[in-house]
Parts: sequence; C-alpha cells; structure tokens
Amino acid sequence: MSSPAPAGVTVFLTGLSGAGKSTIADALVAQLEAEDRPVTVLDGDVVRTHLSSELDFSREHRDLNIRRIGFVAGEVVRHGGIVVVAAIAPYEEAREQARELVERHGRFLLVHLSTPLEVCEDRDVKGLYARARAGEITGFTGIDDPYELPARPDLVIDTSVTPLAESVARIRAAVQAAQNGAPAPVA
Ligand code: ADX
Repeated sequence: MSSPAPAGVTVFLTGLSGAGKSTIADALVAQLEAEDRPVTVLDGDVVRTHLSSELDFSREHRDLNIRRIGFVAGEVVRHGGIVVVAAIAPYEEAREQARELVERHGRFLLVHLSTPLEVCEDRDVKGLYARARAGEITGFTGIDDPYELPARPDLVIDTSVTPLAESVARIRAAVQAAQNGAPAPVA
C-alpha cells in the first residue's frame, strides 16, 4: 500500500518591511525546489501587482489583501502543495482569518520575523523608511501605522541575530514536522 500524500502546508512570513521576509522566502524556496518540491510563492509586493493592484494600505485594504492571500494559499494547500507567503500582514485578525482559510485544507505555520524596527529602518532596502520619516509616505507600517505582534506564532525569528541558513533550517524542520502530522512547534 502506498503511503498517504504529505499534507499541504503554508508558511506565512509576517513582519515589518525590511524584516527579511523576501530573503528568507527566496532561500526557502530555492532549497525546497532543489529537492524537487514545487512551491507557490505569494509575496506581498508581487500579489499587490497581480492580485491586489487596486488596494491601498488602509487597514481595510490590507486585511482584504491578506484574506485573498489566505484564500489562494488554502486552494493550493488543498491539493497538497507548499505555499510560502511573505507579507507584512500587520493585523492579528486578518492573519487569523488567513490561518482559518488554510487550516480547512492543511497546515498553517505562522513565522513572525521579529527583526527590530531600528534594524529594518537601518537596512531600508527600498528607501521607504526614509520617505516615511520625511512625510512623503503616510501610513507606513512601524512609523505611523501599527504592527500588531502575533499572539500565537509557530516560530519567531529575529534576522538581525539569526543567520539566514539557520532561519531556513528552522522553518524547514517545522514544515517537515507539519507534513508528518506532528503538532505545531513551540515558538
Ligand atoms: S500588507 O500590509 O498588505 O500585508 P504587503 O506585504 O502586501 O502589505 O506590502 C508591503 C510592501 O508594500 C512593503 O514591502 C513596501 O514595499 C510597500 N509599501 C508601500 N506603502 C506602504 C505602507 N504604507 N506600509 C507598508 N508597506 C508599504
């Protein structure tokens, strides 16, 4: 008798802009694909280009963006796929709605990238923090818009102190455990 197909899993990376979400997503995806495990990536910037292009950064639209992501992730997970989400997702309620949409069909791992604001701002990869401080962008997460800390993350990783390889390894282990039906890891 053949063993059952592994469960679908969504790894949801949440955190401030510059916290390391896309970097970790890229490295994680490269590793999984090197093992012939196809991955669907839902990166905030890309989703906002193709799926949520009409949305702004109001709470209402951010929440809608996250619910859309949760719905798509749920559909992929339903067929046993692996999804990596990289989105700020600053509101607890919307993150939990995404969890609920995914958990109907498979596993959901919430990974909080807790990199401190000072570090994210120092990195300022896109120059957006400088623009937010200058008042050119308003409602920027961490500056004049909130980021609610996740109440029940599966993993918490501060990329200012955790090397990339270690971050990826911790998430890989959690994915593997989730696919084998183990309980969610303790943060
Ligand atoms: S979310 O809040 O809806 O989850 P999402 O992850 O899709 O956000 O998009 C965040 C990206 O949009 C940031 O990385 C940044 O490049 C860009 N951005 C533009 N305006 C803002 C803003 N006001 N707050 C946060 N990010 C912004």
